[in-house]
Amino acid sequence: MANFNRYLITAALPYANGPVHIGHLAGCYLPSDIYVRYLRAKKADVKFIGGTDEHGVPITIKAMQENVSPQDIVDKYYKIISESFEAMGISFDIFSRTSRQIHHETAAEFFLKMYNDGRFEVKESEQYFDEVKQVFLADRYIIGTCPNCGNEKAYGDQCERCGTSLSPEELINPRSALSDAVPVKRKTKHWYMPLQEYEPWLKEWLLEGHKEWKNNVYGQCKSWIDNGLQSRAMTRDSNWGIKVPLPDAEGKVLYVWFDAPIGYISATKELTPNWADYWCKEDTKLVHFIGKDNIVFHCIIFPAMLKSHGGFVLPENVPANEFLNIEGEKVSTSRNWAVWVHEYVKDFPDQQDVLRYVLCATAPETKDNDFTWKDFQDRNNNELVAIFGNFINRTMVLMHKLCKGKVPPFHIDVRDDKDDAVAAMLQTAKQKIEDALENFRFRDALQEMMNVAREGNRYLQEKQPWILAKTPELQQQNQALIDNCLHLCLQITANLAIFCNPFLPFTAKKISHMLKVVDRMLEWENAGSLKLLSVGYSLRPPELLFKKIEDEQVKAQIEKLHAGLKQSAAAAAPAVPAAPAAARPEAAPKAEIQYDDFAKLDLRVGTILHAEKVEKADKLLKLTVDIGTEKRTVVSGIAMHFKPEEIVGKQVTLVANLAPRKMRGIESQGMILMAEDNGKLVFVNPNEQVSPGSGVS
Ligand code: 2FM
Ligand code: ZN
Repeated sequence: MANFNRYLITAALPYANGPVHIGHLAGCYLPSDIYVRYLRAKKADVKFIGGTDEHGVPITIKAMQENVSPQDIVDKYYKIISESFEAMGISFDIFSRTSRQIHHETAAEFFLKMYNDGRFEVKESEQYFDEVKQVFLADRYIIGTCPNCGNEKAYGDQCERCGTSLSPEELINPRSALSDAVPVKRKTKHWYMPLQEYEPWLKEWLLEGHKEWKNNVYGQCKSWIDNGLQSRAMTRDSNWGIKVPLPDAEGKVLYVWFDAPIGYISATKELTPNWADYWCKEDTKLVHFIGKDNIVFHCIIFPAMLKSHGGFVLPENVPANEFLNIEGEKVSTSRNWAVWVHEYVKDFPDQQDVLRYVLCATAPETKDNDFTWKDFQDRNNNELVAIFGNFINRTMVLMHKLCKGKVPPFHIDVRDDKDDAVAAMLQTAKQKIEDALENFRFRDALQEMMNVAREGNRYLQEKQPWILAKTPELQQQNQALIDNCLHLCLQITANLAIFCNPFLPFTAKKISHMLKVVDRMLEWENAGSLKLLSVGYSLRPPELLFKKIEDEQVKAQIEKLHAGLKQSAAAAAPAVPAAPAAARPEAAPKAEIQYDDFAKLDLRVGTILHAEKVEKADKLLKLTVDIGTEKRTVVSGIAMHFKPEEIVGKQVTLVANLAPRKMRGIESQGMILMAEDNGKLVFVNPNEQVSPGSGVS
């Protein structure tokens, strides 16, 4: 904790356009809460800032879809989101909203200061406009055909099939996702931040100065910076958001990614009159917890804004997590493939710590990870119940039975090596947990915490006080040994309360209640001590900390997940203004072409010789395709549909004369033709085996 006198911890502000799901929790809210609870236990001066992000296109789209006002949307979801976090014990010091007055003022002032300091460029450009809905269309809300793979449902910012980043201009046959109208170009003026001017500074501050950041975060930042930064518009055409505080800016609002991170500052202002101590004094450690999709905004754009404005501290770390999939599939809010937090707390009342435990144990810290209900059940039953709960329960039951419900004395004269080892075990655990938490390795920290319970069980098993007390006579003879064992087991229990408190705060409270200790015992400096409970102190009866999760409960959750999926598919069927994910179910007819156009294509049959996943690209496979005369490398966006080993040996049709294109640093030398049937991809190939290289015409 050297050099820092206070901590400012932020967790990404979720958009108030839907409830939060467990992927959100695992991504940033749980790790930030664990970190903050640990810091508080260390008596650090810490503020934990959260709130909802209530501006931007997602909110206006949702309002349009539901035929209500954006305000109605954000009011509804602020309530659900804030209650979900509270129920899960995410202990924000403030959970604010970016629609509040204080935020509008703070963000507008921030913009104005940058404007007055000449930090923006004003540029006119042509942007797509939906004449039916009378709105400018954000890139995501323009759909068209991907120039790279032919996917007809590519978005204006990315093709989800082949993973290529796109701009709306590159789409073939673009149309609005809101009305299906063909968008028109309209002139519009915006204020841009020339991010390229910050490159030298970013290289020094981030690439040189923060090599300790997590690999996934550092790597993404490095590739952004190495690829060259560009001017980015910090304003948008909309009537929902923070008005651009300039006279010639009618109908313009601040870009949501300009205003949202300033929300951290506004919320701190709302929380405390001393907000400037946290934001402006160099001895503050600012840490942003986020999900991986927010990396560029928190590591590059917001720091550049802070630097440009001047007077603010910069983030010391941005420990972003990857994504959590559910039952092997990516979370999709539009398809309702998610486990919603507000539903979990209803279905599993008083079992918040189980979810906290499972999400921390499987947190996607270095790569995407999978949540399954079976694993949830196994971890609860085999770890929380069988190891953690079992140790504490046995200790409490035996203490009541063999030590009259009081903390027994420790008799130095009969102690042995196993007793002596307990102190060292606790000290080592403390050190390891601290080290892991301070370096944002929450899974490791949790493991170490559980190891203490494992060690406790082992110790108890070795000592077997129930054998020492098999008969009243034996018990009398062995009482000193029994006392020693249970004395230490109780001290381990008290230590477990301290160790588990950041991760399992509800459980720590229950243990404290059983042990009749006040919250102060949970302070971190007490960890490792063998004097937490005084001899002779009478304790409460044991309370069950965790209960078994039954097969039926798991089955019901899996069914609910699938039922939700069906429901949402049915709901999307009528002509709801199309949300991006639901747009255009079938291939639209294309304009007529001449034979010559067709003849330009060099189509050949090839055989897949080799297939492998492309690193850090969930959707891409790198294929080696034999087309007779040569072998081609082809990068194809089919990884979500096929396992590499399944497709080796298959024949495919290749567009062999497509200009090569680099994807994730790999040159793709052709494109494979696919048929798409309701989301299922099938190779287009001859109906019998032919020689590689055979032409298709
Ligand atoms: O990705 C999101 O949900 C954004 N609303 C996160 C914003 S974080 C911060 F900048 F406010
Ligand atoms: Zn594509």
